[in-house]
Amino acid sequence: MKLNNNTILITGGSKGIGFEMAKKFLQLNNKVIICGRSESALKSAKNELKDVYTIKCDISNSNDRKELVETIKKEFPSLNVLVNNAGIQRDVNFNSNFDDLHNLDEISINFEGPIFLIKELLPLIKENNNPCIINVSSQLGFFPMAKMPIYSATKAAMHSFTKSLRHQLKDSVEVIEIIPPAVDTNLNPEGRKKGNFKFDLKTPEYVEDVFEKLKEELLEICYKDNLENINNSTKKDIDSIFEKMNNR
Ligand SMILES: NC(=O)c1ccc[n+]([C@@H]2O[C@H](COP(=O)([O-])OP(=O)(O)OC[C@H]3O[C@@H](n4cnc5c(N)ncnc54)[C@H](OP(=O)(O)O)[C@@H]3O)[C@@H](O)[C@H]2O)c1
Repeated sequence: MKLNNNTILITGGSKGIGFEMAKKFLQLNNKVIICGRSESALKSAKNELKDVYTIKCDISNSNDRKELVETIKKEFPSLNVLVNNAGIQRDVNFNSNFDDLHNLDEISINFEGPIFLIKELLPLIKENNNPCIINVSSQLGFFPMAKMPIYSATKAAMHSFTKSLRHQLKDSVEVIEIIPPAVDTNLNPEGRKKGNFKFDLKTPEYVEDVFEKLKEELLEICYKDNLENINNSTKKDIDSIFEKMNNR
C-alpha cells in the first residue's frame, strides 16, 4: 500500500498493535482516526499521539457503529483506508459449567463489526484515491488454540472472508490481511495470567516488521517467514502443529 497521505481509521487503535500502527502511520504523514470502547484509553493515546483523532465506539454495538460511520462521513470524507484491528480473546472451556458466553462478543467484535464497517464505509473509501482495507486476523486462524475455540474460529473466518473480499474487489480496492503471531499486548489478560503464551515479541518490533511488508506491497502479512511455513504446511503438518500447541 501507499504509506503516506492517507486518511486511516484504525479500530482498536488505543492500545497494543493498533496503537503502534497509529503511531507509525502518523510518523509517515497520514491523518489517523482511532476508535475504542474505553474513554480513558483513548485519552491516554491522544496524550501520546498528539495528532490522532479519537472516537469512542464499541464496534459490537450497532448504534455505536452507525454513529461512527456517520461521524466519519461528515468529518473525514477523505477516508481511504480502514484497518479492522479491534479484537478480544477469551479462554472458553466447554468442559466447565458456564452459562455466560458474554453474548458471543468475540464473534461480534472480531468478525461482525468489521463486516458491517466494510459494508458501510466501502462507498466512501472507493470515492477516494488509493482505497485500501486491512483486516487483522491471527496465526490462530490457521492453527487453532483449543483453549480459545471461539477466538480461533473468528480469526479463521476473518482469513476466509478477507480472501473472498480481495477477489471481489480486485479491480477497485487493495485488501490486505495482517496475520500476527503471539505479540506482547494485553489482549487476553486471563490467559496471560495462566501463561497461555510466551510473549517474547514486543509490539513495536512486531509493527516494524508489518510496515516493512506493507512497504513491499504484500497482501498477506505474516511475521518473518511464518507465511512460508503456513503455505508449505501439509494437512499432516497442520495436525501435528495443532497437537504440539495444544498438548504442551
Ligand atoms: N497480541 C497478540 O498476540 C495477537 C495475536 C494475533 C492476532 N492479534 C489481533 O490483533 C488485534 C489487536 O490486538 P492487540 O493484541 O493489540 O490487543 P489489545 O492490546 O487488547 O488492543 C485491542 C484494541 O481493540 C479495542 N477494542 C476491543 N474491543 C473493542 C470493541 N468492541 N470496539 C472497539 N474497540 C475495541 C481495545 O480498546 P477498548 O478495550 O478500549 O475497546 C484496544 O484498543 C486483534 O484483532 C487481535 O485479535 C493479536
